[in-house]
Amino acid sequence: MHITVIGAGYVGIPTAAVFAKLGHTVCLLDVDEKKIGALRQGKLPFFEPGLAEAVGEQLSSGALSVTTEYNAAIAHAEVVFICVGTPPLPTGEADLSYVFSAARSIAENFGPHRTLIVTKSTVPVGTAEKVRKIISDVTLSSKGGSASGGSLSRDLAQFDLASCPEFLPEGSALADALNPDRIVIGADTDRAREILLKLHEGLPGARVVTDVRTAELIKYACNAFLATKIFFINEIASLCEQTGANVADVATAMGMDKRIGPAFLRAGIGYGGSCFPKDTRALASIASGHNHDFQLLKAVIEVNQQQRARFLEKVKLILGGVSGKRIGVLGLAFKNNTDDVRESAALEIVAYLMKDGASVVAYDPKAEANAKIALPALVTCSTAAEALQHADAALILTEWTEFRDLPWQQLKSLMRQPIIPDGKNLLDPSQMRASGFTYVSVGRP
Ligand code: NAD
Ligand code: UGA
Repeated sequence: MHITVIGAGYVGIPTAAVFAKLGHTVCLLDVDEKKIGALRQGKLPFFEPGLAEAVGEQLSSGALSVTTEYNAAIAHAEVVFICVGTPPLPTGEADLSYVFSAARSIAENFGPHRTLIVTKSTVPVGTAEKVRKIISDVTLSSKGGSASGGSLSRDLAQFDLASCPEFLPEGSALADALNPDRIVIGADTDRAREILLKLHEGLPGARVVTDVRTAELIKYACNAFLATKIFFINEIASLCEQTGANVADVATAMGMDKRIGPAFLRAGIGYGGSCFPKDTRALASIASGHNHDFQLLKAVIEVNQQQRARFLEKVKLILGGVSGKRIGVLGLAFKNNTDDVRESAALEIVAYLMKDGASVVAYDPKAEANAKIALPALVTCSTAAEALQHADAALILTEWTEFRDLPWQQLKSLMRQPIIPDGKNLLDPSQMRASGFTYVSVGRP
């Protein structure tokens, strides 16, 4: 099939690479000339393991092409995936302006055949209907706005709409896109349903076939539930700190119950990233728009924010204040295996430390450049050893596995004080204490 993917981001690029690998002819479009220029040379606009190689392979085989031209991308497309951003508005609602703008551009460039338009961006319930209206309006106005019954129904029949939300996490985007747990297909016509089932042939995972509105809500429900698991274990971690219990063992035992499962029970400084914070706020706003007071979700959002503050208080306590202290920070990305710092808890903590007069030197294996854009005053360096030179404390703020394997004994001799506040529970407390460190983590005695 001829597929066009709109939005060359964390979702659009793996989506395009996977459909090309499945044997489809894929065109990846973005309005950002720089991104498309870089992709043409086989370079990704961000770090994502294995993705550059997969894109390069599909570009050179000719199965994948990239463009900034809507005309070229839409005229021959049988299926168009909208994968543009839906960032948060100050109110917490999702900003749908990129989705609507993409919808208008699609409608302005329809070819002669019927096209299936699929939203993959995370969008509130009812968005597909708004997209339908935008496309219908553009189609009508391009016909002079006064189409007679016959040509009107022909114009409106030019497209189908569906929702196929994406569940990939950053850091393992390609692996997850190639091996999804499930593929959700939200469609209101048999034609759309059949095309999407056929299109995904070759991928493993269960198929959940449902209507468009349900598919739209499934995506928010999943992210909100995962965020709630993290919120819950962080609350248990706080209780562990009050009672002397150990959250790691609590999480292990909870996770062994098949009804609970072990994933997303790692206590720490709270979730960050471009999705959980924005999607929890957007779902709370969807709920309140329907006069539903989603109390649990409001608590998740609030406690997640407090989790960062709680960790900062711990750091201040152990250091006797942070003003004038030199703090080596390990990790700036919102999680490991990515260079993404959007809503990174690490970066927020660093900003607070700097505001409170600490002298911060930070190291992250991949996120240094993005962190400098977000926080230009931040001092960064290119190794963990440089960050910890003469440091009063080593703060671990991202769960990069390489931090676990650092030569900690050697690093200790570089530090002014051997203090490690570990916000990601990455290191072994007894080992670190046996090595002579003052070590504090989250919810572990
Ligand atoms: P992103 O910011 O990485 O990429 C979006 C791209 O869309 C940008 O390159 C931008 O230039 C482009 N764009 C914006 N308007 C456009 C237009 N009118 N026409 C063409 N291109 C346009 O975003 P992302 O992280 O890939 O997220 C995209 C959507 O997928 C969001 O709704 C997000 O919530 C959802 N999602 C993201 C992830 C993730 O891991 N990042 C996972 C699942 C779902
Ligand atoms: C998340 C979901 O996992 C994806 O399924 C979803 O597609 C994506 O959001 C999205 O909609 O964009 P992502 O944000 O990339 O993926 O990364 P996660 O691995 O979910 O981590 C999110 C945050 O939670 C990170 O800050 C991470 O450090 C934190 N986390 C995760 C914890 O604090 N504890 C855990 O046990 C797990």
